[in-house]
Amino acid sequence: MNKTMPFILVLMCFISGIAKADSFFCESDWDYMKPPLAADEYEAKIHDILKDITENQNYYNVPEQDARMYRILAESVNAQNIVEIGTSTGYSTIWFGLALKQTGGKLTTFEIDPERSAIARENFKRAEMNDIITLIEGDAHEEVLKLSEPIDILFLDADKKGYIDYLNKLLPLVREGGLIIGDNIMTDLADPVYVEAITTNPALETVVIAGVAYTIKKRSIKN
Ligand SMILES: C[S@@+](CC[C@H](N)C(=O)[O-])C[C@H]1O[C@@H](n2cnc3c(N)ncnc32)[C@H](O)[C@@H]1O
Repeated sequence: MNKTMPFILVLMCFISGIAKADSFFCESDWDYMKPPLAADEYEAKIHDILKDITENQNYYNVPEQDARMYRILAESVNAQNIVEIGTSTGYSTIWFGLALKQTGGKLTTFEIDPERSAIARENFKRAEMNDIITLIEGDAHEEVLKLSEPIDILFLDADKKGYIDYLNKLLPLVREGGLIIGDNIMTDLADPVYVEAITTNPALETVVIAGVAYTIKKRSIKN
């Protein structure tokens, strides 16, 4: 490939993106997106609740595509214990809950705002997830100190400047092979201190994809 080739490829992507032309390397992920499919009546009911949350409850939730990824990861790692910081109205929580219904695990979620907590509690009730989800209302910086069980997935989606504190307090509880998912890791939103912590620690492996940081706590190598 000569030196001008990368520029030509980028230009072609840009132009074909505008023209919505199909191309081997420019095709957008969005072209593949289909709504989630329900395998049974329960899952269909949950999809309806999730749709209702995003369409009728006016609080910020993660994008559907991200939440679906979190569900896939939770089911893949056979998560038994998920900790979520930042419940809001429980949208991401319920997506994790779908995975936990399969793995037999549980989730603890933290929310500081009483109004959002009340809506989330109602959403968990109608999703029939009260038995697997515990909502702790209060400041997660204090409340997480009461946790003691090993964590399979730690999901950070609250105050961005607080991520480093949550990491410092909870990394010791994340099991080896466990995941830390940090939402909103875009350059203008992410706390550089958190980014530094997850990208310079040799015990961790991190990639950032579409503004979400996926970090694994590496297993110790046994010789
Ligand atoms: C981006 S929203 C969470 C969205 C949610 N994960 C979802 O996708 O449905 C962030 C939430 O974190 C909560 N929050 C912010 N600081 C907090 C703290 N110190 N402790 C607990 N919750 C906090 C906010 O009240 C807000 O509801």
